[in-house]
Amino acid sequence: MSVTTAMPDRLGEAFERIQGEVDSAFDAFLPVPDDTRARLVEAMRYAAIGGGKRVRPLLVVATAELFGVNRDAAVNAGCAVEAIHAYSLIHDDLPCMDDDDLRHGKPTLHNQYDEAIAVLAGDCLHALAFEILSDPAMHSDPFVRAELVECLARASGHAGMAGGQMMDIAAETSAEPFDLPTITRLQQLKTGALLSAAVEMGAILGRASADSRAPLRAYARDIGLAFQIADDLLDHEGDEAKAGKALRKDEEAGKATFVSLMGADQARAQAAALVEQAISHLANFGEGADLMRALARFVIERDR
Ligand code: IPE
Ligand code: IPE
Ligand code: MG
Ligand code: MG
Ligand code: MG
Repeated sequence: MSVTTAMPDRLGEAFERIQGEVDSAFDAFLPVPDDTRARLVEAMRYAAIGGGKRVRPLLVVATAELFGVNRDAAVNAGCAVEAIHAYSLIHDDLPCMDDDDLRHGKPTLHNQYDEAIAVLAGDCLHALAFEILSDPAMHSDPFVRAELVECLARASGHAGMAGGQMMDIAAETSAEPFDLPTITRLQQLKTGALLSAAVEMGAILGRASADSRAPLRAYARDIGLAFQIADDLLDHEGDEAKAGKALRKDEEAGKATFVSLMGADQARAQAAALVEQAISHLANFGEGADLMRALARFVIERDR
């Protein structure tokens, strides 16, 4: 599955490879049981296999590559982040949240199954993430496993993705539109936290020194913000058929976003500046970080 036609070959190949690996790993993690849980596991498979770009797993793998980490370990850690991401999208689409009908070009999970199954499939993907990370097959060192669990847990909960989702709901109902610093904080949690965790988990697997983790964190923070500005721009002016989800939702909801606060042109310029800044943080990593540089550019060039 190609992500965009305008993508340099090496990045395109890297996406195809990780998409295949993540799909196979979820297929192996999620055999359908021969009892009344079958529909639940089928729903988990519906959300986890195929569809997503797999930006977060590719970030884990690209960072882990800098430190010569075993590929299977990096892919498994990538699946853990992706399991959280997939669960967050199932819940994000529910009627009590964004009430969306289309995801990855197909009916949202609660439409294909039902709301109760959507809640449970989200719960189970959340649990699966930590089962993957804490399994001895993940890494031989229990301290590394514990550090991975802590990193992903922090990025998923109230100090990360779910906290950002709460701020996002508050943004829709607030009498006064949120200002730019508040929107930035919201997006750092809602979107940035899991992207940052992906990079951090690559560094944890690589047992990276504090000195090399600092620029990687700065890289992740910048691409996280650029990623969400791109999501807001896509919502504003993207093509629904390519995006595979309903767009123009933010304006309809009267929600303050980077685009509503800055205007599309300034938002685009800001995202481009963030990507250049992200790349500048990789200055000391040499050619080994070319995939991370290409990924940074992809974040704002993507059309879905
Ligand atoms: C979409 O994330 C939701 C946000 C956090 C902005 P992605 O654009 O990574 O979603 P998929 O998994 O590739 O569809
Ligand atoms: C969702 O943000 C972010 C999550 C944590 C799931 P959006 O609501 O903007 O994502 P889309 O546009 O539905 O993919
Ligand atoms: Mg939302
Ligand atoms: Mg949404
Ligand atoms: Mg959006």
